[in-house]
Amino acid sequence: MSESDTIKVLGIAGSFRSGSFNAMALNAAVELAPEGMTVETHDFRDIPFYDGDLEAGSGIPAAAELFREKIRAADALLIVTPEYNASIPGILKNAIDWASRPPHQPFDNKPIAIMGASPGALGSIRAQLHLRQILLNVGAQVMVGPQVLIGGAGQRFSAERRLTDEASQQFVRGLMQALAAWTKRLKG
Ligand SMILES: Cc1cc2nc3c(=O)[nH]c(=O)nc-3n(C[C@H](O)[C@H](O)[C@H](O)COP(=O)(O)O)c2cc1C
Repeated sequence: MSESDTIKVLGIAGSFRSGSFNAMALNAAVELAPEGMTVETHDFRDIPFYDGDLEAGSGIPAAAELFREKIRAADALLIVTPEYNASIPGILKNAIDWASRPPHQPFDNKPIAIMGASPGALGSIRAQLHLRQILLNVGAQVMVGPQVLIGGAGQRFSAERRLTDEASQQFVRGLMQALAAWTKRLKG
């Protein structure tokens, strides 16, 4: 962990949409993080589609390398995923794929919390299960719980794009507290 003992979290949302519920949920996590934790958000839309020829010809693109460096520098990650066709969005998988390339892929042993929001009743659970499996495959220390499933997302955020549902706020707060404890436990 950083010298100041502040836990530095890198937070990403798997949606580039201006009205994204998942980006709003990420912003809520920034505000609801416990004392002693900071959450920096990162917009990774400049990462190109993975292409082995591109990698072989010119190496890992700058935007993907920046993402890797931010993961490396963070004590922990928070990934907020939408659900697309019962899985994670392609943009998120693509970013993870680029970041996972050798050498020194930065997910290894990284404490990670996941959550998600969906207008549907299931609140992104199927996407979260896939995301967990992907992250375990790259050696991340994914928290088992608490599971934060913001279902019925259309009713949980205000017109000003804030998470106003109190129960959801509590879940997000609990997740961030658990991430602080998980990170301390893993990193000492
Ligand atoms: C291609 C596509 C597939 C989707 N599949 C699902 C799904 O399987 N389950 C679900 O709950 N919502 C699904 N949705 C709806 C998304 O949850 C919804 O668009 C959500 O608002 C996306 O997240 P965002 O608000 O962060 O952009 C899908 C949306 C798209 C565009």
